[in-house]
Amino acid sequence: MPATNIEDLIALCKRRGFIFQSSEIYGGTQGLYDYGPLGVELKNNIKNSWWKSIVYERDDVEGLDAAILTKQSVLKYSGHEETFTDPLVDCKSCGERFRADQVPDYCKKEDLTEPRQFNLMFKTNIGPVDDGKTFAYLRPETAQQIFTNFKNVVDSTSRNVPFGIAQIGKAFRNEITLKSFIFRVREFEQMELEFFVVPGTDEDWHKKWVELRINWWEKQGVSKKSLELYEVPKDELAHYSKATVDIMYKFPHGVEELEGIANRTDFDLGSHSKNQDELSLKSKVSENNESNAKLALKDENNNWMVPFVIEPSAGVDRAILAILNEAYHLEKIEDKERVVLKLKPHLSPIKAAIIPLKKNDEKIVAKAKEIKNKLQSLGLGRVLFENSGNIGKNYRRHDEIGTPICITIDFETLEEETVTVRDRDTMSQKRVSITDLEEVFKDLF
Ligand code: GAP
Repeated sequence: MPATNIEDLIALCKRRGFIFQSSEIYGGTQGLYDYGPLGVELKNNIKNSWWKSIVYERDDVEGLDAAILTKQSVLKYSGHEETFTDPLVDCKSCGERFRADQVPDYCKKEDLTEPRQFNLMFKTNIGPVDDGKTFAYLRPETAQQIFTNFKNVVDSTSRNVPFGIAQIGKAFRNEITLKSFIFRVREFEQMELEFFVVPGTDEDWHKKWVELRINWWEKQGVSKKSLELYEVPKDELAHYSKATVDIMYKFPHGVEELEGIANRTDFDLGSHSKNQDELSLKSKVSENNESNAKLALKDENNNWMVPFVIEPSAGVDRAILAILNEAYHLEKIEDKERVVLKLKPHLSPIKAAIIPLKKNDEKIVAKAKEIKNKLQSLGLGRVLFENSGNIGKNYRRHDEIGTPICITIDFETLEEETVTVRDRDTMSQKRVSITDLEEVFKDLF
């Protein structure tokens, strides 16, 4: 059963080194978190799994890693300067600021100011002169530089629709109200795909991507029972969207968005294009006199065609919260409790722990290191040589951090070339010959 209490997850994350509050020794900064030794492995494994399914396992998607600092014009024509705002209110009695629709119960709501629009983008100066003009934004989503690179990618890869461009990276939002640990933060990562299709085929592709993305979440251990689909009502759609389906997850604090899948129409490519009146755009865009490119393709009749865009956009941090929540299990074994993270092995921060039974026996330790190096060289992720604590403590720690197997090296190993393999979920142990170990390990993935 997944964790029902966010406090249990937060405690585990801190205790075992998944996630720490940022700048904690100076009192911390709200809405910023640091990923520790295990958190960085889990995060990389989730991102790799997404990249594998979106880029490597398909033949119609290219990757991109664009700059985070973003020129003002990009976010002007994307609509973010004007519309990426939340309504802000001040409470004159408690002295705090809130998003107008998220005033907490502890505020008496008696003395609130009228809402005013607050832009969520962070600005920073570029170059040595701070004249207020040469600033850039920290990107609020990874999507925009995919659109601005559309022509570069098409020209360098000879792609034609349907095809996509994928990017994983940091995004920054000066959120007014933070929420539930890493659920809503000010610096986070996104995994975004912009999938370009012929107008008219967009609705079918939208449906298809919703299905594909649900299947991916299931493969990461997020059960279908914990997911819901939410069709965003027309009056709540973002300015670029014709339709959006949110994949909602039952987080410990309630059912909320895990990923959004939007039909962005021809808005973005159209907005960032010059000579827009030659493009027969379906969406309403602002006139652009600054772009030097036409982000369009020629169709079979040699007419300009601006592809529609289907955008599955998932947050890495929310993925971590959902995946940890699903994996967290508290089991009662006789009169003792066991916390076990039943992570899918491809996501586990540590793939196997190699434990020498006698830490001071040179031969056992040497054999354990030899086995560690052999399994590590397979390139399936981090294999840990575990040289501290007793065996019971080692098992408990590795259950809690989701290591799928522990491999113990003992005197019998030296005599008979066998090891003990303990399974995290069943706690069953079996003797395996060293020659078969590689296959047993590979079979986990
Ligand atoms: N390009 C579209 C876009 O950015 P979004 O719904 O604003 O759409 C997409 O964000 C995903 O990014 C969300 O589903 C969520 O997983 C994640 N996300 C957005 N804001 C976040 C925040 N402040 N903290 C953590 N994750 C966030």
